[in-house]
Amino acid sequence: MGTYENLLLQLDNGILTVTINREDKLNALSVDTLREIRNVVQQIYDDAAIKGVIFTGAGTKAFVAGADITEIAELSEVNARGFAERGQELFNLLEHCHKPIIAAVNGFALGGGCELAMACHLRIASTNARFGQPEVNLGLVPGYGGTQRLTQLVGKGKAMELIMTADMISAETAKALGLVNEVTSPEELLPTCLALLNKILSKAPLAIGLVIECVNAVFNKDEDGYQTEANAFARCCSSEDFLEGTNAFIEKRRPVFKGK
Ligand code: COA
Repeated sequence: MGTYENLLLQLDNGILTVTINREDKLNALSVDTLREIRNVVQQIYDDAAIKGVIFTGAGTKAFVAGADITEIAELSEVNARGFAERGQELFNLLEHCHKPIIAAVNGFALGGGCELAMACHLRIASTNARFGQPEVNLGLVPGYGGTQRLTQLVGKGKAMELIMTADMISAETAKALGLVNEVTSPEELLPTCLALLNKILSKAPLAIGLVIECVNAVFNKDEDGYQTEANAFARCCSSEDFLEGTNAFIEKRRPVFKGK
């Protein structure tokens, strides 16, 4: 899988677990770490052996405590725009990947950490997780898509409040707002993510990828999501997995999907 300085990778039964591994810096996203994540995301797209992905943070304290503030402090206006655009491009790639991606949020998910979690398709949080977009404390706005995705997930009023106050919220509050799907004990976090991912991976992979595409289409103002859905429906109907799924139902057996 290649060697990475700031990431730990483990591939088991088609599930790739990516652990951001800068525990002493609360897994803050340095430029080098983002570059490594970019390489891994390319692998996720290209490697047929990877069926689904979990992102998490090393240690028990943080998922990711944001972009690395020591690096942000050095940015000028010119390179700051590129810095934000590169992060946005990476998180857009994650969001649009046809393989299911879950954030296992095991502690602080602040700034770029909250943005990384929001770019994943699903978020499971441990009871000690804390979410927030504290950029205004630093004289900044979120730069990796946070203003957009937080608004999509929790609505305009709450997004305005959370970003303008920089308040941190608990896992339970995040769940009540729709920011996370489920809350578990720290011990149950990874097993819960694995069980959820395995359940999704037991479905027709082509259909799952197209679900991701169709739901994302809601938030693309240049796209007619209904047309995207109709096209996806038609595409599924020409797949081997559709034949298998319908035959299995009629024959009262479990389907065996091939992703074709
Ligand atoms: N960038 C760089 N380093 C960071 C970091 C970040 N986003 N977040 C934490 N760290 C570093 C701290 O500087 C510290 O390093 P040190 O031991 O070399 O001094 C180490 O991680 C531990 O953090 P510390 O602040 O001592 O832990 P804490 O338990 O007292 O506080 C937080 C935890 C998350 C509340 C606090 O670290 C924090 O506010 N971090 C920044 C969050 C943020 O603003 N993120 C958005 C960035 S745009």
